[in-house]
Amino acid sequence: MGKKTVIGSALMIGLGMWVLRENKHLKVTHHEIRNKKIPSSISGYTIVHVSDYHNTLFGENNKVLVDKIKENKPDLIAVTGDLIDSRTTDLDVALLLMKEMRKIAPVYYVSGNHESRVPEYEVLENRLREIGIEVLNNRMTIPDKEVGPICIYGVQDPSFDRRKSEESERTIMEKQLNSLPQYDHKYAILLSHRPELLDLYAEYSFDLVLSGHAHGGQVRLPLFGGILAPNQGFFPMLTSGMHKMNNTAMIVSRGIGNSAFPLRVNNPPELIVIKLFPEQ
Ligand SMILES: [Fe+2]
Repeated sequence: MGKKTVIGSALMIGLGMWVLRENKHLKVTHHEIRNKKIPSSISGYTIVHVSDYHNTLFGENNKVLVDKIKENKPDLIAVTGDLIDSRTTDLDVALLLMKEMRKIAPVYYVSGNHESRVPEYEVLENRLREIGIEVLNNRMTIPDKEVGPICIYGVQDPSFDRRKSEESERTIMEKQLNSLPQYDHKYAILLSHRPELLDLYAEYSFDLVLSGHAHGGQVRLPLFGGILAPNQGFFPMLTSGMHKMNNTAMIVSRGIGNSAFPLRVNNPPELIVIKLFPEQ
């Protein structure tokens, strides 16, 4: 075997090991938001955002993931869809995480496109409600009296109705958003699986949108970002980080699990921690 072959093989093995290790290494991303609707009485209010879990276990009984969530002392946990994977549906693994998170803080959940594909979805939704998870299926709720200025909206993934009608997902989302009550004076958070509809969310003046779905563009190139995402195609713009349009800020989670494509490259699983502060 030549010297070049040995070096080439060693590099390939090293790269493979780095990719595999990175896929199991959960990264925590922190965001701070300042807004005049946030009163000083809840300064530092903490939201942990979990998206695109796809039945992925992190440690025995999910201890690694649950401990990371606990460490960040959330006041509220938001789960933005694809809790299960439609190819390897495992309700027990999904429910195990939700049960553990419910012990830490109130949990608010919206569905993703994967939930719309499986016959078990109704069972999942019922079991989530039984363990005290707030399922925000085109609904709004106010977390608790002490955080009165905040309201949380959630929309069902548009793929549920897309299966039954000829309307586009955008039209379906618009109808869902239209059906929600408006509270102009409250800090309005929307949970929606789909980041590609940011312009619609901005039209409805949500203050903060939490989403996922794009898996960070699966393979991320340095200085460039993700290369492919569902509903955004090649070189997608909305796969990670915070994006602003008018008065709306949207945080896109790169997600925790994988789906059809089983590997992430330069794109570790992500847990998001958001702190809210009054505008100074
Ligand atoms: Fe997903």
